[in-house]
Amino acid sequence: MNSYKIATIPGDGTGPEVVREGLKVMAAAAQKFGFKYETINFDFGGERYLRTKEVLPASAVSDLKAFDAIFLGAIGHPDVKPGILEKGILLKLRFDLNQYINLRPVQLFDARFCPLKNKTPDDINFTVVRENSEGLYAGAGGQLFKDSPNEVAIQESINTRFGVERCVRYAYEYARKYSRRKQLTLCGKTNVLTFAFDLWQRTFDQVGKEYPDIKTDYAHVDAITMWMVKNPEWFDVIVTDNMFGDIITDLAAMIQGGMGIAAGGNINPDGVSMFEPIGGSAPKYTGKNIINPLAAIGAGALLLHEVGETAAATAIEKSIREVVTTKLADLAAGKMGFSTTEVGDLVVKHL
Ligand code: IPM
Ligand code: MN
Repeated sequence: MNSYKIATIPGDGTGPEVVREGLKVMAAAAQKFGFKYETINFDFGGERYLRTKEVLPASAVSDLKAFDAIFLGAIGHPDVKPGILEKGILLKLRFDLNQYINLRPVQLFDARFCPLKNKTPDDINFTVVRENSEGLYAGAGGQLFKDSPNEVAIQESINTRFGVERCVRYAYEYARKYSRRKQLTLCGKTNVLTFAFDLWQRTFDQVGKEYPDIKTDYAHVDAITMWMVKNPEWFDVIVTDNMFGDIITDLAAMIQGGMGIAAGGNINPDGVSMFEPIGGSAPKYTGKNIINPLAAIGAGALLLHEVGETAAATAIEKSIREVVTTKLADLAAGKMGFSTTEVGDLVVKHL
């Protein structure tokens, strides 16, 4: 029987509540599909930081390397200045664990939950492959003459041939293996960011020669936000840089029904990957048992895909779809018609 070591980082706010439901469903899937796993919990997050003044213990990265996967709830605390936890925990883990892909499947499960008129689950079904280790997130730049009238802030986008190529290659492979229409769209800004996206475009075209079965396409990032609203059915797999990927995946989350359902993976194809609901810590809803756990349950399914438990992962996704279409009144926290724990139970039941 396959057995996995999973690190859990429930984190802040509603993170622990939704991770609990994710694990509830994972336990049921393990029983049904015959695999085993053990979890070890890490208390990283705002509470720990406020208590100890340490964002992440020095051993965190090496400790986490011993796992098959990481299951993360949310990072972000109202009493901690923005940036400290995000950069010190989430981004640090992405970088140091070399999770160079941010994978965001975007699927509408029920037309009722789409804010766009006349769009069906068939129209909104694509995946964004976001570069997750470079670009504006690399931290290049600096501040000069801070707090003076001469202040200068420089924030540079780092794009390496190596980093771009491995991301683009991942996207082609993903399109070949999993996508519906074998179509890959590069999202960039070649008309203005003529250094960075020239590198992206050439890499995209060159690697594309190895994938004659994949149709390719290009869209500027501003135009893609327009088309994602007007014609989301045009997209199959989208590959883009770190910053653009961050922005368009929030838009994508909305058209698939909101943060309650949006799951993502930070993938190191040769190492430890980390899976998370992308909605954040939602302090407003914390501890009320009203947050939607489906994004976290979906993140659990992505985790199982990555470790190779495909049947279990597919079954969880199917139960999520059934619960969404047959049970839930809404996908927003507090409006589902069920509590957080009840939604977890429903997914287990449908499994
Ligand atoms: C995301 C988040 C993070 C990001 C934040 C919390 C640092 O918005 O995963 O998309 O910008 O990557
Ligand atoms: Mn984001």
